Amino acid sequence: MLNTIQDRQSRTRRPSRAVRTTGSLVAALGLAALLSGCQRSDQTLFLGDMASGYNREIFFMSLWAIALSVIIFVGVSAALFYTVQKFREDKNPNAPQQFHGNNRLETLLVAVPVVIVILLSVLTVRSMARLNPVPAGTPKIDILGKQFWWNFAYPATTADAGGVVTNGNEMVMPAGRLVTLNVTSGDVVHGFWAPNIGGQRAAIPSVVRTWNVDTDRPGVYQGNCSQLCGASHANMRYKVIALSQERYDAFLAAAKAYRAPAPDAGSAEERGYNLFVNGKPETGALACAACHRVQGTPAAGAAGPDLSFFGTRRTLGAGMWEGDKARDMLEPWIKNSPEVKPGSLMPTYDGSEYTVSGKKQKGGVLTDDEIGDIAAYLRSLRLPDDADYWRDTPVIKNISAPGGQQ
Ligand code: CUA
Repeated sequence: MLNTIQDRQSRTRRPSRAVRTTGSLVAALGLAALLSGCQRSDQTLFLGDMASGYNREIFFMSLWAIALSVIIFVGVSAALFYTVQKFREDKNPNAPQQFHGNNRLETLLVAVPVVIVILLSVLTVRSMARLNPVPAGTPKIDILGKQFWWNFAYPATTADAGGVVTNGNEMVMPAGRLVTLNVTSGDVVHGFWAPNIGGQRAAIPSVVRTWNVDTDRPGVYQGNCSQLCGASHANMRYKVIALSQERYDAFLAAAKAYRAPAPDAGSAEERGYNLFVNGKPETGALACAACHRVQGTPAAGAAGPDLSFFGTRRTLGAGMWEGDKARDMLEPWIKNSPEVKPGSLMPTYDGSEYTVSGKKQKGGVLTDDEIGDIAAYLRSLRLPDDADYWRDTPVIKNISAPGGQQ
């Protein structure tokens, strides 16, 4: 009786077919959006890119884990249905036989999980043995996450102009070999996540986490911050640019030799350079150099991203904009960066208020022409063309076959 009432209630509560269809559609779309990261196609993250040795091992392990789970699920379900069927009350009217202990059954119930755990352990150790050895001479990249951008330093390469070679928001690495990443944070916990080169690591202040990644295939890959870290967490993106060893060497050599070009006398670049290095004290405009570094100039600030090869970059605002859009956004960005990127810590240059350490502060003022001069200066900071890591590097937009070039 009770069952019948519950059945009827649950039946009346069941949503109509149309509602259910819409519900599944929304769920499917939601899942698709989640998997695609809700981003434009050139900013897509691919889980399980088989061009990465790390991902291939994870995939191999997950096949075993899924296969064993399916076997366990089928085995337990079969045992359950068999037992329920065989010992139904209507077939067995008498009280069930009572017994205690069954050595064979208990041994089996312990042995099966032990075998499964041993199998998974052996496979895990095998994967670790493949992934952990780091050949001598493996290139290292030091990664620093900050609200809301990334700095990538090449600790083995000291610039001729002094200091370690560093690039903001665009990480250049060689393809076809392991690369050691040392991931840390300068403020809150961030997440370094570039799934095409393998997995993710938390960037934790005062902790350096080491991680070896690789990709077989040269290309431009998307990276995102994967740890909720503040107002512009979603705008804390970056690019991983994997190059052939030859092109990677050319990049590092050019970066090592790089000195910002001396602007021509009377040019917009020269006016921009002067504003960049000195600011404009009479209107309260702070010097960019206080927070940014440009190799080969007195600008050595470390609070913001390194701008040494800014003109070679194709992204702006830690990957918020790319290509032409990044170019168009440079002046609005300099003028009032917190307006276009929530939580940006850069001062404003149009006199509007911005926040420093929780306190409101009034920004200095530069004219549109002066902002244009700074933009012109920044665009002039280019690596030589043969060291331009973007040139002819394919933007990866789909998942690769193992080891395959596209
Ligand atoms: Cu940094 Cu989210």
